[in-house]
Amino acid sequence: MKIIEDIDEMHHYAMQLRHEGKAIGFVPTMGALHEGHLSLMRQAREASEHLVVSIFVNPAQFGPKEDYKEYPRDPRGDTGMTRTADVDTLFTPSPSAIYPEGYRTYVDVEGLSGVMCGRTRPGHFRGVATIVLKLLNIVRPHKAFFGQKDYQQTVIIRRMTKDLHLGVDVMVLPTVREADGLAMSSRNQYLNPEDRRSAAILYRSLQEARSQFDKGEHSAERLREAILGTLKYEPSVQLEYAAIVHPETLEEVREAGQGTVIAIAAQIGRTRLIDNILL
Ligand code: PAF
Repeated sequence: MKIIEDIDEMHHYAMQLRHEGKAIGFVPTMGALHEGHLSLMRQAREASEHLVVSIFVNPAQFGPKEDYKEYPRDPRGDTGMTRTADVDTLFTPSPSAIYPEGYRTYVDVEGLSGVMCGRTRPGHFRGVATIVLKLLNIVRPHKAFFGQKDYQQTVIIRRMTKDLHLGVDVMVLPTVREADGLAMSSRNQYLNPEDRRSAAILYRSLQEARSQFDKGEHSAERLREAILGTLKYEPSVQLEYAAIVHPETLEEVREAGQGTVIAIAAQIGRTRLIDNILL
């Protein structure tokens, strides 16, 4: 596995691979890799001739009071995991190379960035869109892979790649879960054992909404009540939002149908977790 830190080197290498006709697959990450990332890497591996994984904890997507400093970092573990996943190139740029002094350019995907997680995390998706565009420009992949767990992020990235004619296929792969249903996330490490146990209620509440939907309940209000009713059993879980939305516009629907997305965010202790399902 080749490890590249330098942006120009990565770019030139990617251009050379393209020139050789290699299909480049790309998995951008913030490190602290877990089974969810591994699953993305495995599927990206199958779909590409050259697999690039990036690790970059992006300061631009953290608010001033958020966990940029504490965000888990495990370069040794991550390198081991990327080797296991048969990654060809690991790209690890530095923050000062990505955002050098005088840096001024940011991407705003309007309308999609201010709803749901965007309400409590202003600027978050501007940071995500900006870094993803920069990484796509550097790595020049044919396909880029993202997890469905960050559903709003995937919608924003899809919209951006289309709006800006980036010519990259955005592949969204199913959320990988722990045995009790909790969606895998690098932030799960923050949970103490009791909060970790309570956190399983998030997915259970989504499953309850799905089961009501399957029984014929399509009213978004009722489905939201099903979620709130389930979450009541874990008072330590503070719901931030439960959104029942159109899968592309992220607009709230009154009646859920096939393809409607139910997304939730909640605070458990000091940890903020998100999850979603597609009906
Ligand atoms: O999903 C993530 O880990 C990040 O938001 C991403 C896409 C790597 C951008 O920093």
